Amino acid sequence: MTTTLITGANKGLGFETARRLVEAGHTVYLGSRDAERGRAAAEQIGARLLLIDVTDDASVAAAAESVAAAGGLDVLINNAGIEGRRPDGGVIGAAEVTADMMREVFETNVFGMVRVTHAFLPLLQRSAAPVVVNLSSGLASLARVTEPGNPSYAYPGMAYPASKVAVNMITVQYAKAFPNMRVNAVEPGYTATDLNMRTGFQTVEQGAEVIVRMAQVGPDGPTGGYFDREGSLPW
Ligand SMILES: NC(=O)c1ccc[n+]([C@@H]2O[C@H](COP(=O)([O-])OP(=O)(O)OC[C@H]3O[C@@H](n4cnc5c(N)ncnc54)[C@H](OP(=O)(O)O)[C@@H]3O)[C@@H](O)[C@H]2O)c1
Repeated sequence: MTTTLITGANKGLGFETARRLVEAGHTVYLGSRDAERGRAAAEQIGARLLLIDVTDDASVAAAAESVAAAGGLDVLINNAGIEGRRPDGGVIGAAEVTADMMREVFETNVFGMVRVTHAFLPLLQRSAAPVVVNLSSGLASLARVTEPGNPSYAYPGMAYPASKVAVNMITVQYAKAFPNMRVNAVEPGYTATDLNMRTGFQTVEQGAEVIVRMAQVGPDGPTGGYFDREGSLPW
């Protein structure tokens, strides 16, 4: 029996991933920072609610303790993330972005990812086949963002893609440090969710495909990689 935790799974790509992994037979902890929304989501798909705010040390520590007490963890999907748009929905470009705006995005996407991974590492190390999936983005690909004509080239924001470049580096360094684990970064593709005011052109079913696949890699699968639905991405 595989036990899986997905952070930020009360909606969007995390919820769809949780739904699919429950269907595939995993015992799924559906991570949510809000009890009510989390409970409703978990009940809908037969997952277990785990209260977890990735920006809060005490919340993450309590979540790790409760998963440890219930038996352990095999798969961690670091999915919780924010883009950090303006209240009117606009992307915050380089001319506007401040250090505080950058910090807010990094607090969730980067420091949150490390906080959660660090807290659950002892449990993952006890698993026979530990797996970590980190939600990156195509906007983390320096190769794409610097290629005129590539859709990623036109994205004007700074905090979000910089945070996802950090996610890629974190992925590579964890993968090298823990060769017994499969640790990969994934790009789901531009998907209609609340994160981007539903401007994405993919469905969550399409977006979750690579997350679900990388959550199910076996001990001989890839590690330290950066993947979308089609295969490897250029860093
Ligand atoms: N959608 C895309 O096109 C796209 C493309 C590439 C990568 N991604 C990545 O995919 C991941 C999921 O995004 P999504 O598109 O599914 O967005 P979403 O629908 O907005 O879902 C984001 C999830 O993260 C949770 N979250 C935010 N801050 C949190 C915190 N401090 N602690 C715990 N949970 C927190 C949200 O909880 P609340 O409901 O409480 O806010 C929500 O459950 C993100 O990492 C995103 O960067 C998305």
